[in-house]
Amino acid sequence: MCHNCAVSAVTASRRSFARFLAVGAGLTVLTACTPVAPEAAPPSSAPLPAAPAPSPTVSTAPAAVPEAAPAGETPPAAAATPSPSAALPRQFSLTDPASPWVVVNKHRPLAPADYAPADLVSPAVGISASGESALLNSTTAAAAEAMFAAASRDGVVMVLASGYRSYATQVSTYNGYVAARGQADADTASARPGYSEHQTGWSFDIADGGGACAFQPCFAEQPAAVWAKANAHRFGFVVRYPWMFHETTGYYYEPWHLRYIGVEAATDMSARGVATLEEYFGVGAAPGYH
Ligand code: DAL
Ligand code: ZN
Repeated sequence: MCHNCAVSAVTASRRSFARFLAVGAGLTVLTACTPVAPEAAPPSSAPLPAAPAPSPTVSTAPAAVPEAAPAGETPPAAAATPSPSAALPRQFSLTDPASPWVVVNKHRPLAPADYAPADLVSPAVGISASGESALLNSTTAAAAEAMFAAASRDGVVMVLASGYRSYATQVSTYNGYVAARGQADADTASARPGYSEHQTGWSFDIADGGGACAFQPCFAEQPAAVWAKANAHRFGFVVRYPWMFHETTGYYYEPWHLRYIGVEAATDMSARGVATLEEYFGVGAAPGYH
């Protein structure tokens, strides 16, 4: 379903968003309008699973207040007050790529840039990806297995469409976008090498195993995306690039891209109605590269 594309700033933004959403699956079909954002599905009646244990290698450095803004950068508006995440009893590093709370965005590259998780595994879920993109770090894999099983119990087909991406793979992925669309457009959909969450093993893209909407705007209306939006937090995941928050995250809506931060934080974020990791962890918006 399309809206009248000429009547509002919101709609104009949706059109811009749609232009870039041949994301991740190979720059295929573009749509003239994006779908209406789906209503949240009723919560599943499935019981809350046990929280997967955080990686034992994760730093527990306190992060009770927002980090200082880099030199020359305007600090986040709420810099004087603790971030929402500061209320949680367990704190994790926001910079260590092995931490479930690492915030990677256009202002926060991975360090080291060629970081690779030490515990990549193939989760026991339906997978449409192959090679390294079928892998996740071990904590994320366990949480994904629990989530996919719960979705299946609710009658929802969900598959892992793209998981881990090495620095080298992100080079070719990003360069493909640039070659096809130019750098400005590429930067709204694909992270530059060293700036992608996929490289941490904490993120993956979902699809529904054969539908035509994989990596397309209409995926937001498919059962897998509707279910994930309503339930992913119960398994420790957030929809990392939510609708209309591209000025904060740097990317247009990706209803397929899930990020593990742990059940405690994801549930708290959901309960507080906080949409982005930037706000939740108090690190400031990252609409573009420096
Ligand atoms: N599509 C997301 C932003 C990535 O390339 O990591
Ligand atoms: Zn993704």
